[in-house]
Amino acid sequence: MVNSLFPPLKVGGLVFDAPLIQAPLSGYSDAPMRRLARRFGASFALCEVFLDQFVLSVVRGSKSRFYLNVKDSDKPAGAQLMGSDSNEFVSAALKLVELGFGLIDLNFACPVKKVVGKNRGGYLLSDPIRAMEIARRVRDALPASVPVTVKLRRSFDDSEKSRKAFWSLLDGLLDVGVDGIAVHGRTVVQRYQGIANWSIIRDVKEHVAVKRNRPEIPVLGCGDLFSAETVITRMRESGVDGVALARGVIGNPWLFQQTRAAMEGRSIPGPPTLAEQKKVIAEHFCDVIELYGERRATTVMRKFGVAYSKLHPDSERVRMAFVACKTPQRWFEILDEFY
Ligand SMILES: Cc1cc2nc3c(=O)[nH]c(=O)nc-3n(C[C@H](O)[C@H](O)[C@H](O)COP(=O)(O)O)c2cc1C
Repeated sequence: MVNSLFPPLKVGGLVFDAPLIQAPLSGYSDAPMRRLARRFGASFALCEVFLDQFVLSVVRGSKSRFYLNVKDSDKPAGAQLMGSDSNEFVSAALKLVELGFGLIDLNFACPVKKVVGKNRGGYLLSDPIRAMEIARRVRDALPASVPVTVKLRRSFDDSEKSRKAFWSLLDGLLDVGVDGIAVHGRTVVQRYQGIANWSIIRDVKEHVAVKRNRPEIPVLGCGDLFSAETVITRMRESGVDGVALARGVIGNPWLFQQTRAAMEGRSIPGPPTLAEQKKVIAEHFCDVIELYGERRATTVMRKFGVAYSKLHPDSERVRMAFVACKTPQRWFEILDEFY
């Protein structure tokens, strides 16, 4: 039993042994990335966001295999849903649970223009009544054993009206019985500009735990978590129950290992050697081949290669080699050549 500086993370009936999770990442957090995240210390990992209509339309075949298959080693797996209509949200959530997902997260955060324009994702922060209706209906429809959590940004924008909408939505979500709340400390309008505002994340935790007297509802923070030291500082300052790592772990699963060590009061391991990087990139690539097949593997892996290359001392040349790579054989040659 590890003597951690932070308690385990409880979300509904699920208990995760460390308050450290892999955030949902569109285009990235597929089964191979989630497997690496867990192996390096994440206690839980979420898939990329699924559009409710996608979940309802996919029957079987490759798309279902790539996105919706849950292996036992990936359980409890977290699925995140996006949409705008509560009926579709409910049907899609029920289907995901039937497929084996053990936690459903509702995306009220995505800042992508096309998404917001269709009254989905971050738009819902500006429409708290609709957002609460979605959360209430999904919570009521799913078995109590499946936690329903919500991903928010700190507000739609910085206007007084949006701020009020945020706090009224937060209260409404607690009233309808959501099991956890994750907050990214930027507004929807900000997208990824500026810095994440962790003092608002701290206010959210205090509001939930003290003002609303719901300390059992976990509040997770995310935004600009790129080092183990930063994670510990942010957790201490904000009092959040856990963190979701996102951009910091794309091509750098070692950040999970470093953060886990810091959370457990151990010394933080240094950056991986080239030999360690080679081993992990090869392992990641083999997993990608297994899931997507040899023909698609290099295309799927390219963006990860670009991210992994940042840890290499000759990063620009390695990046260009990964970008130009067309075959699995060449991928392994690049590993031999540079690592
Ligand atoms: C490429 C990319 C894809 C993302 N996809 C999702 C997603 O599918 N669902 C979601 O809730 N957030 C998504 N996010 C947001 C992250 O989960 C996280 O909240 C955000 O990046 C802030 O954390 P960071 O500053 O540590 O990266 C995405 C972010 C990036 C960079």
